[in-house]
Amino acid sequence: MTPAETRLTPRNQQSGPGGGDPIPAVVVEGLRKSYGGVAAVDGLDLTIQAGEVIALLGPNGAGKTTTVEILEGYRKPDAGTVSVLGMNPQTGGRAFRERIGVVLQEAGFEEQFSPRELIRLHAGYYPHPRAVDDVISLVGLEEKADARVRTLSGGQRRRLDLALGIVGDPEMLFLDEPTTGFDPSARRKAWDLVDRLRDLGATILLTTHYLDEAEHLADRVVVVDQGRIVAQGTPEQLTGSAGLATVISFRLPENVAAGDLPAIGEDLHMAGTLVQVRTRSATTDVNTLAAWAVGRGIELESLTLARPSLEDVYLDLVKESTDEEDVQVG
Ligand SMILES: Nc1ncnc2c1ncn2[C@@H]1O[C@H](COP(=O)(O)OP(=O)(O)OP(=O)(O)O)[C@@H](O)[C@H]1O
Ligand SMILES: [Mg+2]
Repeated sequence: MTPAETRLTPRNQQSGPGGGDPIPAVVVEGLRKSYGGVAAVDGLDLTIQAGEVIALLGPNGAGKTTTVEILEGYRKPDAGTVSVLGMNPQTGGRAFRERIGVVLQEAGFEEQFSPRELIRLHAGYYPHPRAVDDVISLVGLEEKADARVRTLSGGQRRRLDLALGIVGDPEMLFLDEPTTGFDPSARRKAWDLVDRLRDLGATILLTTHYLDEAEHLADRVVVVDQGRIVAQGTPEQLTGSAGLATVISFRLPENVAAGDLPAIGEDLHMAGTLVQVRTRSATTDVNTLAAWAVGRGIELESLTLARPSLEDVYLDLVKESTDEEDVQVG
């Protein structure tokens, strides 16, 4: 156990008056925000339960940052109601700020300070901050803790952003693309950190362009496109309900032509000598294929069965707007 773990205790389960159903951490209804007549958020409804980790996905310009910054109280909605931790972010003032933690998509630092100084400064804004040293080790900034911020690399700056977001031990954490620029091991470390914060009962709303990150971290994924929610559910629900085909693939056996294979799947595609069959009845088709191969004494090389990934589902959902703009994801 790290020292940080030993001193962090789970917050009390939040529950409604009289110990009834828990009060949702976030309730958004009919949210709208336009810039110069162009809708960035176009009628968005979202409820987040206390303790939930939600990943907001969507192409560039989908309205994720606008939504998150409205929930943080940094932007004013044109229409709709917003409640975060039972408060209105616009009017919650300091009492509200003390209960949330924020990692902005783009933040500026006072370059002449060190990470330790900035973290200590931010800790002062909160009633029950985490210990500064714990925060430095939680985000992996030990080696740069006393260096000037201007000497930090991009990924190290992002770690500092994350440190400032969690130093107040907030009930609700907003992370706007928290791991952009992280190397693979820093990303894993950030995931562990989010997992630990979740275990301690924090509610977390994060945005990301990394589908594996959403799949790993989120209890629920919400896909937005052009300011509206186009799909939501657990990663399993989204990949299961999308109606996308499973792919069976294997190496074409020697002395066998593609036409000799049993009739399986919806379509068969050859990539070199690799056979790829798209199917919606994988169990039956794998059975047919295996019986065919075993009956001929053939061992199928490189046989795999691939379910559609969250990335496949996501790309299918946002196909139209990405076709128009050729948006890059991940
Ligand atoms: N301050 C602003 N002034 C004018 N237009 C804005 C402003 N902020 C955002 N927009 C526009 O609103 C839309 C939504 O932007 P937003 O930053 O919320 O998208 P996003 O989903 O966070 O995208 P990204 O994945 O690139 O971060 C975009 O079309 C953007 O150009
Ligand atoms: Mg954004």
